[in-house]
Amino acid sequence: MPKISQKGQQMPESPIRKLVPYAEIAKKKGHKVYHLNIGQPDIKTPEVALNAIKNNDIKILEYSHSAGFESYRTKLSAYYKTHGLPIEVADIIITTGGSEALLFAMGSTMDTDDEIIIPEPFYANYNGFSTASGVKVVPVISTIDEGFALPPISAFEKLITPKTKAILICNPGNPTGYLYSKEEIYQLAEIVKKHDLFLIADEVYREFIYDGDKHFSVMNVPGIEENAIMIDSVSKRYSMCGARIGCIVSKNKEVMSTAMKFAQARLSPPTYAQIASEAALDTPQSYFDDVINEYKERRDTLISELNKIEGVKVATPKGAFYCIAKLPVKSADDFAKWLLETYDNNGETVMVAPAAGFYSTPNVGLDEIRIAYVLKKEDLIRSVAILKDALIKYKEK
Ligand SMILES: Cc1ncc(COP(=O)(O)O)c(C=O)c1O
Repeated sequence: MPKISQKGQQMPESPIRKLVPYAEIAKKKGHKVYHLNIGQPDIKTPEVALNAIKNNDIKILEYSHSAGFESYRTKLSAYYKTHGLPIEVADIIITTGGSEALLFAMGSTMDTDDEIIIPEPFYANYNGFSTASGVKVVPVISTIDEGFALPPISAFEKLITPKTKAILICNPGNPTGYLYSKEEIYQLAEIVKKHDLFLIADEVYREFIYDGDKHFSVMNVPGIEENAIMIDSVSKRYSMCGARIGCIVSKNKEVMSTAMKFAQARLSPPTYAQIASEAALDTPQSYFDDVINEYKERRDTLISELNKIEGVKVATPKGAFYCIAKLPVKSADDFAKWLLETYDNNGETVMVAPAAGFYSTPNVGLDEIRIAYVLKKEDLIRSVAILKDALIKYKEK
């Protein structure tokens, strides 16, 4: 039999999806499963975006330009400028989701066996994109005790080798909800300048910030124009995960012309989804105000309910819609499987994501889970009540 590639064998399974068969068992038993494990928002997509698709009478579904519609990039540049980001049309290539933008960023800046430093815990698919790109992930640990703040710069410096090409951050963070301060971004800027590295910032959750804090983008740091690459997406901003539209943004002309070659190789981003994404830029501010308010209430509810459980520790997220919770269990993996396979509470249970999958250092975060607060408040309250009861039953077992 022909042999599978080593790269294919090394490709990691999604830590979020690996529990899916257990959830199927629970559902087959007729149990209702509250999904705290995935970041699929239940928020409605803006009507302007959906209407733009419904109301159009395309006769031929053509390829678009490899960089995306000029009209969309122009409007997007204006959107960024309104939000204080000095981004020109030439700095943007539209991609098939933030996912493809991450692949283009890695492909354009790193060779096989080059190293990328990423504060962990991190979005698990960074492992997959790195494996696909032949790049080695070098984690730098951030801890729940420090609220997942940026690790000291000395910790980054210790990890820099001649193979280091980039630092990748997620701001605000999935899975931590941490929002880097202006000072932290400036510290990163210093280090990438000093060592001539790229600073790739995944800012797909930029709008989801609570408590009146301000997001500080890498595109706003003077002096790192050649180092900074921003990753963006419509998936969460407009609750349009299925559109598959994102973009890669940089002032570095060489990065952009290289990313463009990757963009040309895959021809173009999806046409209908670009129509929807371009129209989504007309979404009224009231939509965002309502959404942010809703997520803030969900966050407050979730954190206050979790804090009532003895032995549970949680770092209050400042942005995005995830948090990491430390549980009084040895193996969150085993607990998460048990919740689906064995436990039920009046025919209901919860599905959580064991956090170990978000670390690349082995045996770290074993007692932690990631919770996505993408459910309605009543469902979050019920989910945490189930978790609380389950922790007692699990301990007795
Ligand atoms: C941090 C982060 N980056 C990137 C993505 C990729 O999003 P998409 O490809 O849907 O734009 C996600 C999706 O959940 C994410 O959480």
